[in-house]
Amino acid sequence: MEKKFKRTLVTTALPYANGPVHIGHLAGVYVPADIYTRYLRLRGEDVVMIGGSDEHGVPITLRARKEGITPQQVVDRYHAIIRDSLKELGVSFDVYSRTTSKLHSQTASEFFRRLYDKEEFIVQTSLQPYDSKAGEFLADRYVVGTCPKCGADNAYGDQCEKCGSSLNATDLINPRSALTGEPVEMKETTHWFLPLDKWEPALKEWILDGHKEWKTNVYGQCKSWLDGGLQPRAVSRDLSWGVPVPVEGAEGKVLYVWFDAPIGYISNTKELLPDTWETYWKDPETRIINFIGKDNIVFHCIVFPAMLMAYGDGFQLPDNVPANEFLNLEGDKISTSRNWAVWLHEYLADFPGKQDVLRYVLTANAPETRDNDFTWADFQTRNNSELVAILGNFVNRALVLTHKYCNGTVPAAGELTDIEQQLGADLQAAVAALTEALDTFHFREALKQAMEIARIGNRYLQETEPWKVAKTDMQRAATILNVALQLCANIAIAFEPFTPFSASRLAEMLKLKDLNWGMLGRLDIITAGTTLCEPQLLFEKIEDDAIQAQVQRLLDIKKANELSAWRPEPQAEDVDFDTFCRSDLRVGTILECEKVPKADKLLRFLIDDGLTKRTIVSGIAKYYPDPAALVGKQICFIANLPPRKLKGIVSEGMILSAVNSDGSLVLIEPSAPVAPGAKIG
Ligand code: 2FM
Ligand code: ZN
Repeated sequence: MEKKFKRTLVTTALPYANGPVHIGHLAGVYVPADIYTRYLRLRGEDVVMIGGSDEHGVPITLRARKEGITPQQVVDRYHAIIRDSLKELGVSFDVYSRTTSKLHSQTASEFFRRLYDKEEFIVQTSLQPYDSKAGEFLADRYVVGTCPKCGADNAYGDQCEKCGSSLNATDLINPRSALTGEPVEMKETTHWFLPLDKWEPALKEWILDGHKEWKTNVYGQCKSWLDGGLQPRAVSRDLSWGVPVPVEGAEGKVLYVWFDAPIGYISNTKELLPDTWETYWKDPETRIINFIGKDNIVFHCIVFPAMLMAYGDGFQLPDNVPANEFLNLEGDKISTSRNWAVWLHEYLADFPGKQDVLRYVLTANAPETRDNDFTWADFQTRNNSELVAILGNFVNRALVLTHKYCNGTVPAAGELTDIEQQLGADLQAAVAALTEALDTFHFREALKQAMEIARIGNRYLQETEPWKVAKTDMQRAATILNVALQLCANIAIAFEPFTPFSASRLAEMLKLKDLNWGMLGRLDIITAGTTLCEPQLLFEKIEDDAIQAQVQRLLDIKKANELSAWRPEPQAEDVDFDTFCRSDLRVGTILECEKVPKADKLLRFLIDDGLTKRTIVSGIAKYYPDPAALVGKQICFIANLPPRKLKGIVSEGMILSAVNSDGSLVLIEPSAPVAPGAKIG
């Protein structure tokens, strides 16, 4: 990386404290941001990483209503869970704060007030969604309806979770109140608007001309917003939860959460560095990098920069906004409301000590250029076939062989051969590619290159076979082991950003301290004569039963979701009474029941109908793997349907059954024994 900046401020999207964080948040924001920050620290750069919980806005108040608790209780609970679980995963924030802090409230108020005093806002009275039953205006997510872009049924008034589109409540088709389910009404209210159109030329110049290097997904989204023409955007809401609008006559109004949340980056920097925070925001030699998910692009590239431009006073705009696409889970969109997620705090409880495995898998499979899928099968394979079989295996072999042949002491290297020259060149190439990938936010590629060092090591041991050489040429074996250990030292550095726990355990085993990125690629990092610690396995195999338990948990959630989403079919059209009365419904007793040969779906019933024995063929075989068990049961059937042939058998009627909400089938039986042939009416 060309060093033209003096320092870097890394910000991470502030997660809403309306639930714990899940693998989508991690893959999209926190893992890549942490990799990047750790990398810069290893390079000795001046870098700070800012995080915190987004504790205002409708997601919080909706959750509070749902649980019957106060918004403050909601954010207290989830802020603690999020903060602690991210820490346990090794996400190395310099500060992780919250937008309900006093400092934040002051900072956000002061920000608004300055824009107000500079007359940067326009005041507009407009019709906004209102629920007269609840007596409340319906901000953002309080309105639900059909997405005009993708047709999803449950889009929110500010965003569609299904297609990620950013919406206005008035865009929704059939909008209704999330509070009462009533259709929304429109009522006049006054709000402050930031005229984004005023900043459009400056934003175009800054992004479209000045940041062609941004990721295609980010640049493309910005271009489409800017080409579409920007409109004034309301920065206040009629809500009771949030930072109060700090002007007279604004009772009952708070700052829009997307106005206050990005200011959280500033207030959190202030909290961390009360005396020097301004250097990180206002010095042109500071580089600001915003790590976010794709649904946050417009706010970070258009709205917040327009706010900063309006504020002036030297605030710098981000240098890059490496937004990721979305991570799906087992083929389905991750959703907090549907509980379709792998929650970080639950993962940490289920897989203690395996933080690095999750970090590794989420990086190897990161949704950098398109949406990607997390599957538990892939998680297991990447652990067992990559972390254990390639990385762990190489390190373990190098250490175990050193203990076996050199009593655990690093042997001195003798003369290097062509093999080592080639290895050195391969290592240099991997390190150069790794560094280039990190500098350009290509973390998947970076991890692949780090892994290449372990592959180089495995190939080297395979080719040189020190365990055989040791029998005849101990000096050559010592050279090989020295080189292998130098590769291990390279691994301890290269993997620190990705898998910091294992990297630091490896460094400890190798008795290495004060590692830095500049050492990468060297084959003299460990000094000969160093006594190494006993080797421990860096990674362990993950067995099928642990994976099966996770898959089963998801199956259970899917089933519960299907059940709660089930609605009876709409009622059929009326039939006239006489027509209905001509149907002859009766009770019968099953005498025989068997599968129809060569017809997967069909069962043949022989029914005692009181008059005779009749055959009925029914397409319900998949529900009854043991048809004989039905013999003796009483069922209801339609007796006067015209006979019809099914697979060569004449069927004389239809058995009545109901398909349940979980998809199972229930035969309709009388609640007490009834004489066969009795009519139902
Ligand atoms: O989308 C979200 O989860 C928001 N809470 C992100 C806010 S990012 C920043 F602006 F604070
Ligand atoms: Zn949609």
